[in-house]
Parts: sequence; C-alpha cells; structure tokens
Amino acid sequence: MKILMVCLGNICRSPIAEGILQSKLGESFTVHSAGTGDWHVGQNPDERAIAISKKYGVDISKQKARQFQKKDFEEYDLIYAMDKSNYSDILALATTDEQKAKVRMILKEERSVPDPYFGDESGFDEVFKLLDEITNDIVSEINTQ
Ligand code: 4NP
Repeated sequence: MKILMVCLGNICRSPIAEGILQSKLGESFTVHSAGTGDWHVGQNPDERAIAISKKYGVDISKQKARQFQKKDFEEYDLIYAMDKSNYSDILALATTDEQKAKVRMILKEERSVPDPYFGDESGFDEVFKLLDEITNDIVSEINTQ
C-alpha cells in the first residue's frame, strides 16, 4: 500500500502528514508527500514544521519537496489532499475514474487543514494536532480493509 499526502508547497502540511502517518504505519507501508506547486522543489520542510514534528517525536528533517505529477496516480493507492484547492488541482490532472477514486480530502466533511505558512508557530501546532488525530482514523481504516 502506497499513500501520498499532498498540499500546496510540500514544505508544511503534507510533510507533517507524511511523517506522522509513516511513524504510525511502520515500514510495511510507504507514505510520501508532494506539492501541487513547484516553488520549493528540492527543499527540506519549513523549519517550523520540522520543529513541531520533532517536539512530538517525529523526524521530518530529511524530506525533500517535490511537485505532484500525473504519474503519481499510477504509483499510489491513496492520495490525500490537505485543502479544497489541492483537491481540485489534483482532480484536474486525473484522466480516469480509477484515478479520481484514489483522491480524497484528508479531513472529514470537506474541511481543510489550514495553511500555516504565513502565520506563526501556533498554526503549526494546530496543524500537527489535526493531522495526528485524523491519521488515527486513516490507520484504523487501512487496518480494517
Ligand atoms: P504547505 O504551505 O502547502 O502546507 O507546504 C505552503 C508553503 C509555501 C507556500 C504556500 C503554502 N508558498 O506560497 O510558498
């Protein structure tokens, strides 16, 4: 099972989501992340994202940002979007119903994970907690499939 977390820049939300879910699922699952935008390709996560993850025991410091590509629809079984614009940007690249069916919003009821990039540290704490909670549900769903 391969899972892809997607946000805009791939330096704040999706790297945190990747780190948390990978740490909960262990090595028999693959969790990666990507951004719909290309501004930060090749960069490590934002230092505030690294710091909040470290505080809660998750090391995301070695991740490198990359842009979402069409071939990711073939590579991954599940693709989680952090917000509505990520969701529609990913769906716009899908060409088959099978590809579209792999894409979902990570939070329930189409809620978005708030983008913490232009805010302060407290936004990163909120993002970590939201993602920590929702990844418990993802782990349960995967384990009951
Ligand atoms: P992310 O946050 O999508 O959670 O990685 C952002 C990072 C960078 C930018 C926007 C959002 N940016 O505009 O550069």
